[in-house]
Amino acid sequence: LRILIVGFGNVGQSLAKLLIRKRGEMKKGKIPEIKVVGILDSKTQVIESEGVNIASALKRKEINGQVGIERRSDFNEILDSSDPDVVVELTRTNPVDGEPGFTHIKEALIARKDVVTANKGPIALGFHALRELASRNSVQLRFSGTVGAGTPILEFGKICATGDEILSLRAILNSTSNYILTMMERNNLNLEEALALSKERGYAEADSRMDISGKDTALKLVIVVNYLLGKRITLDEIYVKGIENIDNSSIRNAIGKKKRIRLVASSGKRYEVKPTELDVSDPLCVYGPMSAIHLRCRFSGDKYLVGPGAGGTETAIAVLRDILYLKGR
Ligand SMILES: NC(=O)c1ccc[n+]([C@@H]2O[C@H](COP(=O)([O-])OP(=O)(O)OC[C@H]3O[C@@H](n4cnc5c(N)ncnc54)[C@H](OP(=O)(O)O)[C@@H]3O)[C@@H](O)[C@H]2O)c1
Repeated sequence: LRILIVGFGNVGQSLAKLLIRKRGEMKKGKIPEIKVVGILDSKTQVIESEGVNIASALKRKEINGQVGIERRSDFNEILDSSDPDVVVELTRTNPVDGEPGFTHIKEALIARKDVVTANKGPIALGFHALRELASRNSVQLRFSGTVGAGTPILEFGKICATGDEILSLRAILNSTSNYILTMMERNNLNLEEALALSKERGYAEADSRMDISGKDTALKLVIVVNYLLGKRITLDEIYVKGIENIDNSSIRNAIGKKKRIRLVASSGKRYEVKPTELDVSDPLCVYGPMSAIHLRCRFSGDKYLVGPGAGGTETAIAVLRDILYLKGR
């Protein structure tokens, strides 16, 4: 399986390291052989049709800040020369127009390449257009890592929905704000101090306003609702309120009532993202950098999934899972 990695930041490099660790399993035939035929970052490229030396690429990125010595060429030319089976799109999420990920994904699908991505921007903003494009070109578009990092919220929901019907859902989709709220509760920190700690730990997005404002959660809610409930909603149909105004007195007030404030995304009368007081006994009331989803199904009742919701390695696992699913189709 020949893959082209587009974007070599936290997740891209974690995927590269994971592939090195998986060599033994590939050699033994436990998982299919995955060959990296190209890696791109914002300015440079390394293309090797016979397989990029991943360890050297990681070293170059660490030392020079760039993955290649060649300047980036036109994306369509790169697709031609590297001839991948799968394009793995891992550039930064852009909530405004989804670029540059949107164009990468679109051009890869038109060139009849399967695409795997963890980039929320293009999937949330162009959900149906991109899926329809994939279908017209008889290729697959997989995006497990866009929601829940390594916790397979989308797959779990899809299985629950099959043969049943999801009536409503509630979810914690931004583990950074969940970590921040937990640190405010446990260590009596204010929002700025807890945010600084989340940056130190590498949980926050490059632009942390995305986490705090609820925008990141809203992008994920669009993906969840469109994918699991089969709707065609857009970002502007979601009511969004972030955690920026949560202070220590509201945190203490909730604790006094045996509740915790969490940034909850939900579908009900309307689609919304807002700080909500959850009972401590509610399974959705999770602590630290976690994601969680609660699905209410018509026939089989309530279902929950909880797991770590951020991190380069965790997200790389979702990407690898998607690549392996492609192979098994
Ligand atoms: N980190 C997480 O925990 C997590 C979890 C779930 C989903 N995600 C999503 O996964 C994606 C990757 O996240 P990340 O944390 O790895 O981001 P990141 O560390 O900011 O890396 C982004 C990479 O994209 C590269 N890039 C930017 N413009 C490019 C272009 N035009 N062509 C090729 N490469 C380009 C950057 O190049 P330079 O290195 O040259 O700047 C960088 O290597 C994002 O969309 C993010 O939202 C991340």
